[in-house]
This record gives sequence, C-alpha cells and structure tokens, in this order.
Amino acid sequence: MRIIIVEDYEEMSRKSAKVVSERLRRKPDLVLGLPTGSTPVGMYQQLIKAHKEKGLDFSRVRSFNLDEYWGLSPDHPQSYHYFMWHNFFNHINIKPENVYIPRGEAENAETFCNWYEHKIKEEGGIDLQVLGIGRDGHIGFNEPGSSLGSRTRIKTLTEETREDNSRFFEKKEDVPYCAITMGIGTIFEAKECLLLASGDNKAEAVQKCIEGPVSTETTASLLQLHSKLIIIVDEEAAKNLKSKDYYKHTQRMAEKLQAEPR
Ligand code: F6R
Repeated sequence: MRIIIVEDYEEMSRKSAKVVSERLRRKPDLVLGLPTGSTPVGMYQQLIKAHKEKGLDFSRVRSFNLDEYWGLSPDHPQSYHYFMWHNFFNHINIKPENVYIPRGEAENAETFCNWYEHKIKEEGGIDLQVLGIGRDGHIGFNEPGSSLGSRTRIKTLTEETREDNSRFFEKKEDVPYCAITMGIGTIFEAKECLLLASGDNKAEAVQKCIEGPVSTETTASLLQLHSKLIIIVDEEAAKNLKSKDYYKHTQRMAEKLQAEPR
C-alpha cells in the first residue's frame, strides 16, 4: 500500500492525474476503470489540461465506469453517462466506441451485467482502477454487507448514500434507490488501484479502509489485500489515521530517494 497524504483537494487532483498520465504514457492502450462523484472532478480537469497543453493521448484508451444509477437513461442530467461525457470524455480524444458505462436502462440487468464482466476481460482486464470512497466505506456502489467476491450487479443504495448524492438532484426523492455497480471482486481484479479521498467527512471511512479489519462493513477494506494500491488522501481525510506520522515519514523517504512511497 502506498499512502500519499497531500495538503488539499487540488494537490490530490494533481498527483492522481500524474499517476494516470504516467501509466498512459507507458501503455497508450491503457484500460482505465473510472469513478464519478465530486472526488475525481479535479483529476479529470488536470487530465483535460494535460491533453490540451501536452498532447496526452487517449485515442487508444478503453474505459469502464464503475457504476450507473438503475433506471436513469444515458441522457438524464444526473446519470453517470451524462456526468462522464460532460466532465471528461467530451474534452479529450477518447473514441466513443471505447467508452463503457453500465446501462441504467438495460432491459435485462443480469444479461447486461454478465456482458459487462465479459467485456472487461475481453479488453484485457483493467490496468488502472481509479476509485472514490463513500462515507460508509463503499467503493463503486458496494454498500456495507456486499460480498467481497461480488461481481457486477444491481445493488440497493443505503439511505446515507442517497442522502449524500441528493446534492446532485433537485430533491432527495429523485435519487434512485438502486445502481448497477462493478462488484468488489471485479474491482479487486484490476492490475492496479488508485483510491482518492478528500475532506473530513471521509476521515472515518479512510481510517477503516486502511487500518481497520478487512470486512464487508467497509467494503473498501478489501483493498488492503491488493498488491498494487496507491491511496492519495488530503490532510482532512487522513486526520483519523493512527499511523499517519509513519505514512508521512515513508513519503519523505521516498521523495529523498525519488521513488514512490512504500
Ligand atoms: C461513483 C462511485 C462512488 C463514489 C463515492 C464517493 O462512481 O463509485 O463510490 O466514488 O460515493 O463520492 P464523492 O466523490 O461524490 O464523495
């Protein structure tokens, strides 16, 4: 686990965009796993900037989104399809046919979910999975109680998640009750994971994810078992970490040696 504690949201966004750019320069046909929500918006802006100013090339990238609200059509302004095109894909040179986002209106959810899993494998598996984290410790929409081996499926959202996400909707009643989400097992198969968190409302979830027991109570905690994981959190999100000083120490050592913290 490489834990990088940064000052604030801006630094988290810059550092995470740097990780994505480096992986992309190394492998131009990178398979990316992507989240929505407030957390990655700054990273997307940095990547758009790198595309426009430095020619960062997405023409061979394939991308798979983590989730989509069940029941929302792709052109619904609160759908994750809309979010991704609006905040990222419309501003880079990714090919539309290489973008995969779960379909909230799939006629047969089970068939669709199996196809999504199959497609990820067919494209060679996810090279880098970027993740945000919910206040209840979810990644994707794998709410507490989700099997740690779960695959892409429909999941019922907790009231806490619906409440948190109601800021994007006119009123809470409009927030869907379910979402299609990659499973914890699906996410875990990514070759590398990059988890981002910002703000003190994420501090408890971040502490449980990094230092708590591996448990379905905090589904992000399974990431502790992943052999290639980078976590970039800002000071506020890191405030409950018991070994915070040690993580910072490893970070300083890595900077000295010009390596990544371990
Ligand atoms: C969204 C997703 C969720 C969010 C999480 C945090 O695609 O997978 O797990 O990453 O709910 O959301 P924000 O970033 O809005 O706090």
